[in-house]
Amino acid sequence: MEPGFAASEIDTSRPHPARMYDAYLGGRDNYPVDREAVREILRLYPETRQVALANRAFLQRAVRFLAAEAGIGQFLDIGTGIPSAGNVHEVAGQVAPDARVVYVDNDPIVHVHASALLTGTDATGIVLADLRDPGAILAHPGLRAMIDFSRPVALLLLAILHFVTEEEDPAGIVATLLDALPDGSYLALSHATADFHPPGAAAQATAVYKNATAPFVPRPFKQVAAFFDGLELVEPGLVQAPLWRPDGKRPRPRDLEKIGIYAGLGRKALGR
Ligand SMILES: C[S@@+](CC[C@H](N)C(=O)[O-])C[C@H]1O[C@@H](n2cnc3c(N)ncnc32)[C@H](O)[C@@H]1O
Repeated sequence: MEPGFAASEIDTSRPHPARMYDAYLGGRDNYPVDREAVREILRLYPETRQVALANRAFLQRAVRFLAAEAGIGQFLDIGTGIPSAGNVHEVAGQVAPDARVVYVDNDPIVHVHASALLTGTDATGIVLADLRDPGAILAHPGLRAMIDFSRPVALLLLAILHFVTEEEDPAGIVATLLDALPDGSYLALSHATADFHPPGAAAQATAVYKNATAPFVPRPFKQVAAFFDGLELVEPGLVQAPLWRPDGKRPRPRDLEKIGIYAGLGRKALGR
């Protein structure tokens, strides 16, 4: 859907969030500069790998819920990440074989990997675009060819909004995207927080991301909850990711210690 890109576009001199996330998840699509930043984060927050895994598990439970229980057949996944186990189209496809998925990311390396993975499928598309320009995403011909805006869509913003600063107006971005979707659409969101750490901890993580291609902006509960303004929250609401409709046993309090990621799902009802 997009022309190719030059290898020189891949910046190996600065850590990239997509490649750092890949490293947390044990992937191989990362460079020394990413691994060095990950080592520093893990030194400060040894639980970060669990946080990434908890987020990935939420993605899978949320997509299964959307495809199987909410009857959603179209997914717009912004901030896709480097493909890993249990990608959105694979999870949705298990219960809704006709599900359409458009992946959007601003990192060329994600684009390359996702394009390779998706070759030959009509049900999935990949768009190289930036969340901070939601108008360009919505107008993108690749997206418009895949998504029927008269039918409900699940907008997935998973572990991406914490790379958008207040000055870049994350609430306005979410509102612009939701306004384009019909009633019955959903927002699935996960977002890093420092609420489960001592004061000052967030500043250290933010400092590690200082040289990265995107800043790191963890937010408190109230600010994350505000992204769902005007939506009906699906039970159990906005919670730490492992607490969102766990598959098996409810996590024990000690499994939740320092798991600084909120997750939730909201439905756009009539009249938003
Ligand atoms: C931590 S990964 C999350 C991947 C996946 N959504 C998940 O939850 O497993 C964040 C992804 O968001 C992408 N990203 C960060 N800022 C972005 C922006 N402004 N526009 C588009 N993608 C962005 C990164 O390139 C990366 O692939």
